Amino acid sequence: MLPAINPTDTSAWRKLEIHFMMMQATHLRELFAEDPDRFSKFSLTLNDILLDYSKNLITEETIQLLTELAAETELAPAIQAMFTGKVINQTEGRSVLHIALRNRTNTPILVDGEDVMPLVNKALEQMQHFSTRLLDGSHTGYTGKRITDIVNIGIGGSDLGPLMVTEALKPYWQGITPHFVSNVDGTHMAETLKKVNPETTLFIIASKTFTTQETMTNAESARSWFIDKTKDASAVSKHFVAVSTNEQEVVKFGIDPANMFVFWDWVGGRYSLWSSIGLSIACTIGFKNFEQLLQGAHEMDEHFKTASYEKNMPVLLALIGIWYNNFYGAASEAILPYDQYLHRFAAYFQQGNMESNGKSVDRNGEPVTYQTGPIIWGEPGTNGQHAFYQLIHQGTKLTPCDFIAPAFSHNPIGDHHDKLLSNFFAQPEALMHGKTYDEVVAELKKQGMSADEISFHAPFRVFEGNKPTNTLLVKQITPQTLGSLIALYEHKIFVQGIIWNVFSFDQWGVELGKVLAKKILPELTHPGEIDSHDGSTNGLINHFKRLKFE
Ligand code: F6P
Repeated sequence: MLPAINPTDTSAWRKLEIHFMMMQATHLRELFAEDPDRFSKFSLTLNDILLDYSKNLITEETIQLLTELAAETELAPAIQAMFTGKVINQTEGRSVLHIALRNRTNTPILVDGEDVMPLVNKALEQMQHFSTRLLDGSHTGYTGKRITDIVNIGIGGSDLGPLMVTEALKPYWQGITPHFVSNVDGTHMAETLKKVNPETTLFIIASKTFTTQETMTNAESARSWFIDKTKDASAVSKHFVAVSTNEQEVVKFGIDPANMFVFWDWVGGRYSLWSSIGLSIACTIGFKNFEQLLQGAHEMDEHFKTASYEKNMPVLLALIGIWYNNFYGAASEAILPYDQYLHRFAAYFQQGNMESNGKSVDRNGEPVTYQTGPIIWGEPGTNGQHAFYQLIHQGTKLTPCDFIAPAFSHNPIGDHHDKLLSNFFAQPEALMHGKTYDEVVAELKKQGMSADEISFHAPFRVFEGNKPTNTLLVKQITPQTLGSLIALYEHKIFVQGIIWNVFSFDQWGVELGKVLAKKILPELTHPGEIDSHDGSTNGLINHFKRLKFE
């Protein structure tokens, strides 16, 4: 059982409220002017990752109080509970063991008294065997041709993780092109099928439950397309495999259990890329690289488990996030990778974070009286700079940002990377320092503007600054570094969920819409007005039906 402590009842929370009143009037410029050692005080490294968190509205006292909050809300026993397989997903009665999937030291982890590591290792062996045979050409399609394309059919955690990782690790692709179909909008499937040849394509149906409407509909359509093209239903077994926890449904769908890759209910959907759900990753970057991804995550796990709070990357990111979310009133956080290959990283953690901590009932079943999970968004730099950074710099909302970049590009063309990184360094500097009225006036004077012109133009060109950022500079985006980065954000989410006193590993909020869609679906199949909903929904459905049937 997890502790269930209201964070606002702690003495640390009260101290933080008082501390906030003092910090509110402090500008980051002053903090840097006062303390030349800020960078060394507020940065740390783990393997190839440097985290600079000095450009935050924090002092040593802030960190001290935030770590007190973590202690009072019993973070340490919660971490221990997760790593030892306790049933911390209490609303679904499950352990939470994505850490077991990358437990490279194989220390036993018990669920119901049984060590799960032999199961994990067996599943990894199956993935290794299959991905190796696919990549070396020994598993061919039904006409004996090599598999050149994979279509992963899944949604949410069964899609976003493999999609984000295969995109992030494109330089490691081994000759097979992955495609991802998630949306039940037929366009997604139709456009993907235009790109592939049935003789050389493997379909991976990835669904933890194997009942998700979008995935099952897409899977049926892919199979019909395949049989239509090949005129050979027996060829399906060479071209369709399933990744699931639900053997019964897999068999019902018509996939032989021999072509099934398993995982377990203690792997949450949005934490599943490390499991067999990562099959499309292993088949794309090769199993050795997949193992490196696991290794990187494992190293972050070990760091998370053992480092003291003030030297613990995930804990620090979590605490700083809480500082802005609950004291400065920041509603959102931006993740801004300066690496084109990481273009789905923010989208991935949009699900990771928002599905985990988008909760308003605490672990006692009471409504929370404070803010929980933030809105997560972001795009790769420098595109974001020319789109939404304006609001971050000069808008009315506080948006703490994480900047992420590799020191080395996989594509060192001319001076592109130095230019990219000059922006990566400049933006957090600009957000922190801003530009004062006096600086603007001096600049405009230099440009030869008259006093009248200056007094008109100056206010618009002032940057308040004081916008907090974290900067993550890594050596290069390798499988291992990416594994560590993903685990870093996963654990940040975990820590925040513990402190906010919510259950981070369920997602009941997704259910209602699904149930209503099921009710509406049969109403769309025949003409005639319906009146079974509210006025707006009736009006919309009836308008659609008139368009469809008249
Ligand atoms: O969006 C809800 C959700 O349950 C996610 O948590 C999950 O990743 C996704 O649906 C897909 O579920 P499944 O893998 O069972 O198809």
